[in-house]
Amino acid sequence: MSKLPIGVIGAGLIGRTHIDRALKQPGVDLVGVADPSDEGRRLAQSVNVPWFADHDEMIRSVKPRGVVIATPNATHAKIAVHCLQRGAAVLVEKPIADTLDDARTICEAALSAKLPAMVGHQRRQNPIMQRAKRMVAAGKLGRPVCLTALSTWLKPAEYFDTAWRRLKGGGPILINLIHDVDQLRYLFGDIVTVQAMTSNAVRSFEVEDTAVILLRFRNGALGTVTVSDTAAAPWNWDLSAGEAERFPRQDVNSHFLSGTEASLTLPRLEYWHYREGKGWHDELTLERTALHFGDPYAEQMRHFRAVIVGEEEPVCPAADAMRSLEATLAVAEAARSGKEIVLSA
Ligand SMILES: NC(=O)c1ccc[n+]([C@@H]2O[C@H](COP(=O)([O-])OP(=O)(O)OC[C@H]3O[C@@H](n4cnc5c(N)ncnc54)[C@H](O)[C@@H]3O)[C@@H](O)[C@H]2O)c1
Repeated sequence: MSKLPIGVIGAGLIGRTHIDRALKQPGVDLVGVADPSDEGRRLAQSVNVPWFADHDEMIRSVKPRGVVIATPNATHAKIAVHCLQRGAAVLVEKPIADTLDDARTICEAALSAKLPAMVGHQRRQNPIMQRAKRMVAAGKLGRPVCLTALSTWLKPAEYFDTAWRRLKGGGPILINLIHDVDQLRYLFGDIVTVQAMTSNAVRSFEVEDTAVILLRFRNGALGTVTVSDTAAAPWNWDLSAGEAERFPRQDVNSHFLSGTEASLTLPRLEYWHYREGKGWHDELTLERTALHFGDPYAEQMRHFRAVIVGEEEPVCPAADAMRSLEATLAVAEAARSGKEIVLSA
């Protein structure tokens, strides 16, 4: 397999993960790291990869075919558009941008450059999600009826030493819930309306610490999601699915999907269905699938290469990630206004 030149822009918390996975991916040649910070320079030097203070300098100098953009949300659009115009495909970290206008700009730039633009909703690349997606699509649940997702955990006090996390633009809706929204859309399809309530009663920050959300899907199913960063609880994907080594894995379910024929829990992939009879007096059967462990960040890097060389279609194209952003922004708007928000068709 020929090695494809890839660059990473932004070498902070998640940029480090991308650098690591790019170095380990057989089909990828990590040709540059662009990050103006001293830590970024030190990191690039420590792995013997050319360092650049600026992404444009990196593109002109080492000509990557694709770049991973792992910089703060507000910078995504400007950097992505520029890279696309310079001929590099982009894998933009989530959220695709912090406004819908910016997200649209990225989609349009990809179209005019005729290059792929993908977004790093890596949960889609998890084998657990891939299996769940196939089961739902194959009708194993029957007609989708409802789902419940929990995104509840306790962030330590020092997490909030960083000011933006306490202020408008921070908060668990925009930082964390977008992953769940994208994940639920991936399984049940588009969301058409959103209602929500938020509270900051425990932390008293400008942003919420807790939110409850009601979703209506285009397929007719309804969903509820609870998100809280102040609840001492194990029920959220980061802890339950074990995707990142920085979180201790908990052997619990956090997502519950039901249809007219069966139910499925995630990430434990417990499949509840009737073998004989069908009703609340009949006995339910439980089957569980234990999958091989998969590293979604590694899979995402392999997939990025395959998309660039035309072997695969993007699992999370920019236009789809824009709809996850729209639904997530609608949660904040619904809570603010107390109204049901209707999403674009
Ligand atoms: N998919 C995930 O699991 C996941 C996890 C964490 C963060 N994220 C997303 O990744 C992005 C980065 O988050 P983070 O927590 O790693 O942030 P961070 O603050 O730890 O790192 C950001 C880095 O970008 C660098 N940077 C800033 N402007 C730059 C520019 N113009 N050019 C090059 N480098 C620049 C900074 O110096 C810093 O090193 C955000 O969009 C965030 O939402 C995704």
